Amino acid sequence: MTCSQCVGIEKVFNEKYVTKELNDYRRKGPVKTTRWLIEAMKQTGVQGLDLLDIGGGVGAIQHELVKAGVSRVTGVDAASAYIQAARSEAERGGYAERTTQIHGDFVTVAPKLDKADIVTLDRVICCYDDMQSLVRTSVGLAKKYYGVIYPRFLWWTRLVCIIENFFERLVSNPYRAYVHPTEKVEAIIKEKGFTRQYYRQTLAWQVVVYVRG
Ligand SMILES: C[S@@+](CC[C@H](N)C(=O)[O-])C[C@H]1O[C@@H](n2cnc3c(N)ncnc32)[C@H](O)[C@@H]1O
Repeated sequence: MTCSQCVGIEKVFNEKYVTKELNDYRRKGPVKTTRWLIEAMKQTGVQGLDLLDIGGGVGAIQHELVKAGVSRVTGVDAASAYIQAARSEAERGGYAERTTQIHGDFVTVAPKLDKADIVTLDRVICCYDDMQSLVRTSVGLAKKYYGVIYPRFLWWTRLVCIIENFFERLVSNPYRAYVHPTEKVEAIIKEKGFTRQYYRQTLAWQVVVYVRG
């Protein structure tokens, strides 16, 4: 991958970082906000639906929703260590043959992907420079549900982001974090015919499930 953000992503989410996250997931399960998104999806009923999980990391959403009845999973992640981790966890769960893991920039690989009943982006919108293309393209592939977790647009979440980016610059990593105005993200999702079905927030994060129609 040539985009500078993708080069930075490989450096940040490296093997050491991902191994720790996978061990944490195996010991404790998904983190709170991811658990909320999974529970909200389960409430809607996921039996027999297929899932496209973008930037899924170790694949917590994928593994938990397969247990809840999701039939097929496609994972796309820009970090190769995460792809490996999601794959190995699917093998461990005995459902690897029902998953496809693609290493790449979602915006670039999207034209080759099929639509899916459920599309999820858990803390991904804040890790990509072209929010408009990421959201527009991903929501365009969602047939029924679109689930996202992204930072709330607050003065201090933006400040945290500036500080994080300062340190990335110091170590010459091209990776940058982003906090986008909620109304700008939502406008794109609503424009594609989706409405909010579930909303919950923490101090920093918002967890939203949209349904088509
Ligand atoms: C903060 S991590 C979150 C991982 C996981 N979803 C979680 O919540 O633990 C951000 C993830 O988004 C991925 N990502 C960011 N932009 C991407 C893109 N354009 N295409 C594919 N993956 C992307 C990164 O590789 C990384 O896996």
